[in-house]
Amino acid sequence: MRKIHVKASREYDILIGNGLLKKAASLIADACGRPETVIVSDDTVYGLYGEDLKKDLEAEGFAVKSFVFPHGERNKNLETYGELQEFLSENGITRNGLIAALGGGVTGDLAGFAAATYQRGIRFVQIPTTLLADVDSSVGGKTAVDLKSGKNQTGCFYQPSMVICDPETLKTLPEEEFLCGCAEVIKYAVYGNRELFDFLKTEEIRDHLEEVIAVCVTMKRDLVEADEFDTGKRMMLNFGHTFGHGVESCSDFSILHGQAVAIGMAVMTRAACAKGYCTEETVTMLEEILKQYGLPDRASCSKEELLQAVLKDKKRKSGTMRIVVPRRIGSCMIEEIPAEALPEWIAEGGLI
Ligand SMILES: NC(=O)c1ccc[n+]([C@@H]2O[C@H](COP(=O)([O-])OP(=O)(O)OC[C@H]3O[C@@H](n4cnc5c(N)ncnc54)[C@H](O)[C@@H]3O)[C@@H](O)[C@H]2O)c1
Ligand SMILES: [Zn+2]
Repeated sequence: MRKIHVKASREYDILIGNGLLKKAASLIADACGRPETVIVSDDTVYGLYGEDLKKDLEAEGFAVKSFVFPHGERNKNLETYGELQEFLSENGITRNGLIAALGGGVTGDLAGFAAATYQRGIRFVQIPTTLLADVDSSVGGKTAVDLKSGKNQTGCFYQPSMVICDPETLKTLPEEEFLCGCAEVIKYAVYGNRELFDFLKTEEIRDHLEEVIAVCVTMKRDLVEADEFDTGKRMMLNFGHTFGHGVESCSDFSILHGQAVAIGMAVMTRAACAKGYCTEETVTMLEEILKQYGLPDRASCSKEELLQAVLKDKKRKSGTMRIVVPRRIGSCMIEEIPAEALPEWIAEGGLI
């Protein structure tokens, strides 16, 4: 088992190890005592792992209730959030209670926001079950639900009390979802870890999940400790996301997040090369690794559609915006560009 400690507005450990889910009950008891606990999970994940976790917690002396909602991003909304709040209240959960978020980023974001706000904040534990949640969403305390106008429009920063990552849960994750997590891992490598990039090129990631998750989480931990509230350095994690979010919304969310991020990284890197920030070699290396991981590097939307989507996402038509630009594999920089320059970046990014 690997342990990574985070010192943010709340201090906590991230535990990573094969088979940890089976030990979750005793790990939670060690860190949090035995408060009344509500497992929050989507129907797919609860069907796979929920009842076992509930039984383990009960055997450890916890009183446990389960809140299960239909899977999918479209349920990360105010309605589900409201139902969860009422569930907590109806079941008499007090300020001493605990939420265990068992699932991917949708579950973690929703459960975290509910924990942050129910009775002005109860503790919560993240138990991620997707690669994306392992390396990104379960760490760092960003919680949110979506509004009709866009993703993550209402939420807050609220750190968990503990994160328990068991890579064995990824065995049941559909291949496409796994590859989306790989896109985020590639993001970490390109923005700041050449060694990880070379490792991903030559090794079979499935044979080294504990290690890869630990490397990414350590990188995220360092950014969170330096910039918990995302006003500076933490923005590095947005590499590939400015255009990625645009591609995602142009496709009406038929393209998965990780696939859109892959396209977003490629568009940004090709534009960066055209503008002299990086060389052709950087572009080739990125395109090759995306191909190796079955990820796309071009989108089917038009430049105009993407521009409109990015402007809408950033909610600005003029002024400046910050983008993450690669200099070489393993090193990116944050650049402030005028919004008027965006069409040129998109044109040079060679979308289709
Ligand atoms: N808070 C943050 O810092 C942060 C960072 C990145 C992304 N996010 C959010 O994360 C969300 C995406 O997360 P995600 O990709 O994990 O999506 P998700 O939670 O919807 O999971 C993807 C799908 O996989 C299923 N699933 C999950 N674990 C499984 C398993 N072990 N076996 C079989 N099926 C399983 C789920 O039921 C779901 O259908 C988005 O809402 C995004 O906004 C948050
Ligand atoms: Zn992402």
